[in-house]
Amino acid sequence: MRGKKLLLLVGLTLILTACQGSQKEEPKTSIRIGISLYRGDDTFINNIRSVVEEKAKEYERESGIKVTLDIQDAKGSQNTQNSQVERFIALGCDVLCINPVDRMDASLIIDRAMTAGVPVVFFNRQPVEEDMNRWDRLYYIGVDARETAVLQGRMVVDLYRKQPDAVDRNGDGVVSYVLLEGESSHQDSLIRTEWSIQTLKDGGVPIEKITGGIANWERSQASALMEQWLLACPDIIELVVSNNDDMALGAIDALERAGIADVNVIGIDGTTPGMEALKSGKLLGTVSANKELYGSAIVGLAVSCGLGEELPEEYPLEEGTYYWTPQEILVRDSAQGEGIEEN
Ligand code: BGC
Repeated sequence: MRGKKLLLLVGLTLILTACQGSQKEEPKTSIRIGISLYRGDDTFINNIRSVVEEKAKEYERESGIKVTLDIQDAKGSQNTQNSQVERFIALGCDVLCINPVDRMDASLIIDRAMTAGVPVVFFNRQPVEEDMNRWDRLYYIGVDARETAVLQGRMVVDLYRKQPDAVDRNGDGVVSYVLLEGESSHQDSLIRTEWSIQTLKDGGVPIEKITGGIANWERSQASALMEQWLLACPDIIELVVSNNDDMALGAIDALERAGIADVNVIGIDGTTPGMEALKSGKLLGTVSANKELYGSAIVGLAVSCGLGEELPEEYPLEEGTYYWTPQEILVRDSAQGEGIEEN
């Protein structure tokens, strides 16, 4: 009798396990995505966040799969971001989208994600290659910094060739410039600075650096630096080369306060306020990342790796890991003094 009971129990357990097994294979009807931003007050990151939210809703409408976005601000602290990652994992997030605070210190996030088997889509602040190579479920979405810089330099080269006096404002045969740089540890600052200036030189623009400084991507810091430079070197600066639009806008703020209108300012990003400054003629030009694609690549990649589906073909991954978002030059139509030319 006891033997029969035992057999029945074993049989029942087997049936139950089989049922659970087949339940597991059923397609998911919802996905939870944990997103951590290095700083929620960064203009460019905010632009990307809006697109991500919009694209997630679009995906939910079209697929019928419920998407829950849990978006957190790390407020510039790697410790805070690490805790956010712990919480995302404890909450059962299917995938993480991380904009690292310290791109050199992503290893803890990667450890946690690997242990929990949760894939990670990093964006905008590129972890070092050694970290990215640790697991085949780590991805990165960003823009190619060298391409950005070459495009930024090229917009001035093109203008100089067409209309030298629009760049060499005082006609002395030298274009005197100042340089505004982003955070020193950010891959974009270093590469953008190097290649922008190199492109100007290679393109035959006779440049001379007056001064430069780090304004950490921030409008107010750039404005303060520019104010000092205008006081120290009055009537010399002809061009402001900025690593991003926010710092370019800071330089424009200082120029406006000083009542100076004939200095060219160039930025990068094509953010909402950057585009307004371009339209109103205050910014000479910017290099704009395609934010629609940037945001939809984050959502597309996150959703497919979170659901365990094949990765979408529309975002081709270099080395199976990196998606480089296309970008374009947007310049004020200086000949007309109005409108925007797209190259
Ligand atoms: C953008 C900056 C932004 C920074 C944040 C850069 O790629 O150009 O505007 O502040 O990323 O990481």
